[in-house]
Amino acid sequence: MKSTYILAIESSCDDTAAAIIKDDKIVANGVSTQKIHENYGGVVPEWASRKHQENIIPLIDHVLKESGIHLRDLNAIAFTRGPGLLGSLIVGVSFAKSLALSLNIPIIEIHHMKAHVLAHFIDDPKPNFPFLCLTVSGGHTQIIKVEDFNKLEIMGKTLDDAAGEAFDKAGKMLGLPYPAGPHIDRLAQKGEPRFSFPEPSIDGLDFSFSGLKTAFRYFLRDQVKVEPDFIYENMNDIACSIQHSIIDILLNKLERASAITGIQEVAIAGGVSANSGLRSELMKRSEKNGWKVHIPKFEYCTDNAAMIAIAAHYKYISGDFSSHAVGPDARLAW
Ligand code: KG4
Ligand code: ZN
Repeated sequence: MKSTYILAIESSCDDTAAAIIKDDKIVANGVSTQKIHENYGGVVPEWASRKHQENIIPLIDHVLKESGIHLRDLNAIAFTRGPGLLGSLIVGVSFAKSLALSLNIPIIEIHHMKAHVLAHFIDDPKPNFPFLCLTVSGGHTQIIKVEDFNKLEIMGKTLDDAAGEAFDKAGKMLGLPYPAGPHIDRLAQKGEPRFSFPEPSIDGLDFSFSGLKTAFRYFLRDQVKVEPDFIYENMNDIACSIQHSIIDILLNKLERASAITGIQEVAIAGGVSANSGLRSELMKRSEKNGWKVHIPKFEYCTDNAAMIAIAAHYKYISGDFSSHAVGPDARLAW
């Protein structure tokens, strides 16, 4: 049977990403990371969309060359429709639509958060349905029951900050550059969780990180009052402690979700799933609970287009295409 080639574009935040999938195999995967935001301590939306405009054509050229595929070989173009930053999404969506129009091929819209979950189907071993996915990114924290490629049910979500935001805000208080998650991860590996912070008592499977953020802020303020160099001298232990608290909050809820549903197969996804502490604690808990776990490769944790491509592959085979009336949606519904 003739192979199918899909070009996938991801531009929901500050990374421009493109990938090409041949049937269900990724044959090229590229990301242009926007360094400019490091100077501002967070993503500057206007800069993000301008940089997407600069990056998108060279990046797509690059993945086409890497895969040896010509534009005329493409069968469809997939893109992140949302959620994300509107200006950033507009670049990817408009580019995908115009290129598809010029090639006379269909377009496939993808939900960014669902794609993070479906990234688990890029490589083997793939999860079996149903499984639970803890999706932890800069904007979302969710426990999802995944029953099929298009049947994903949110069982719990954050009521305030996302897990990635908790890392980034704690890091900002420690004077670390944005995004602080990877820096906290690196420092935590050299530290001990000597300081503890109260775990929020939220019913059910929802999360909250704002109390932890406030407790951390007051903890630092009070320590610095008595010992001005406290942060500088205890950086590794402070990073390890805040990371430890965030991981506990996440995995305690995942354990609860597994107990409620009886589902023993669990996965993690999203930028924070790159965290080495989260990965190793998940392995420990899997031994304790008898879970089968799925941990994504590092390149499929943070934003990437391979996850958009695999999600598009499953939509393509079920003939689920979008109309050209489709536009970006910063708050795209689940
Ligand atoms: O999924 P993602 O790349 O983008 C969104 O869709 O938001 O997630 C970005 C988030 C940032 O908050 C970043 O600090 C966090 O993922 N992150 C990490 C690590 N790598 C990225 N957090 C903790 N440890 C890491 N190693
Ligand atoms: Zn993401």
